[in-house]
Amino acid sequence: MQTLATQQQNYHLNPNLFFYLRDGEFIVWDYLNHQQWIVKSDYINALEQIAKGQSISISMTQDLLQSGMVSEHEFTDFQWGWDIVSKIYHLSSSNIFEDIQKSEDEFVEEYLATCEQLNQEEIQTVVCDYEFEACFDSRVDEVPLGEVFRKRKTTRNFDGSSIEYSDLGSLLYTACGEIHEVWEDLQQAGYTIESGRRSFPSGGGLYPMRYIVLALNVEGILPGVYEYIPRANGLKLLKPLDEHRVFDDLTDILNSQFFCKGLAAGVFFVPDFSKEWEKYPHSRSYRDVFLDIAHCSQNVLLTATAMRLRTWVTAAFKDEKLRHFLGITEAFTYPAEFIGIGHGSNHSLPKAFINGEALGQ
Ligand SMILES: Cc1cc2nc3c(=O)[nH]c(=O)nc-3n(C[C@H](O)[C@H](O)[C@H](O)COP(=O)(O)O)c2cc1C
Repeated sequence: MQTLATQQQNYHLNPNLFFYLRDGEFIVWDYLNHQQWIVKSDYINALEQIAKGQSISISMTQDLLQSGMVSEHEFTDFQWGWDIVSKIYHLSSSNIFEDIQKSEDEFVEEYLATCEQLNQEEIQTVVCDYEFEACFDSRVDEVPLGEVFRKRKTTRNFDGSSIEYSDLGSLLYTACGEIHEVWEDLQQAGYTIESGRRSFPSGGGLYPMRYIVLALNVEGILPGVYEYIPRANGLKLLKPLDEHRVFDDLTDILNSQFFCKGLAAGVFFVPDFSKEWEKYPHSRSYRDVFLDIAHCSQNVLLTATAMRLRTWVTAAFKDEKLRHFLGITEAFTYPAEFIGIGHGSNHSLPKAFINGEALGQ
């Protein structure tokens, strides 16, 4: 059998392969590119040989090169501060949406078809037959924040009107900013303070997130991608946006969700993993980053609602396209959530979804 000297040929093993056995078969999973193969054991041996810089048969080399498990070029890896568990989860759950652009009609049609299908599935009724000792007689308006809670709603009909620059500032400062100038008790006890306290809790007081703000129609500033910097309580321009095409670009990146059209502003919450792994080196802390972001995003929603602004939330993005659109330079760093902000009607459904037949009206 003919062999190739892998070191000479400089073959490289894909660093994002996970090997496991299922139903008696060897599975190789490329968790970055979302591909899986059932692989015979001689190929597993070949992969091991390549990893060790040893030679393998030509026929196998061709197969492995074609599959992408092996390459003649070095694979680019990136710095990940936790163990492989969170890395596998992070990469395998990113970039999952196909890069196809759907028209508004196609999107609505597909969405309604999915609803129709779900309607046909039998949903088990939950029977609540417990005996209660006592029932609460609670009223939302008995709680100072209650009315804001009741009013918060995800709406999907924005009218294109602007918001004030100062309102955007008040919203960001209140919900995301360092509203406590000093962390008095910690300072008095002699602790070093890395970040100013904010209005939401954060594991270890790290606030491991960046806020990338879209100014789409904000009075007094140019349409653009900005970063809100809590320490300065200010916006830094990352890049201007072309107002004539921004909503088409955004619709595509937000997975054809055309109801972003008419938003005045928006905030992308971008995880800053490095802040977290510096202090907490176990993969478990990967979860905390998203918990912290969720706390903060709820603050944005409630603050905006209290300011009589409408909000829309999404976490469905074309990750890599979005990363480029926002100018995020770190590899594989993708926003966790987007909150769109603006004015419009209080309806959950975009007008195009209000189809009597589909909604059973
Ligand atoms: C993590 C997360 C992801 C969401 N993703 C989407 C989304 O992709 N598109 C969308 O229109 N709404 C999205 N929503 C909004 C939910 O559909 C909405 O919160 C839910 O239907 C409850 O309605 P409410 O927010 O008006 O109470 C998301 C909400 C959350 C918290």
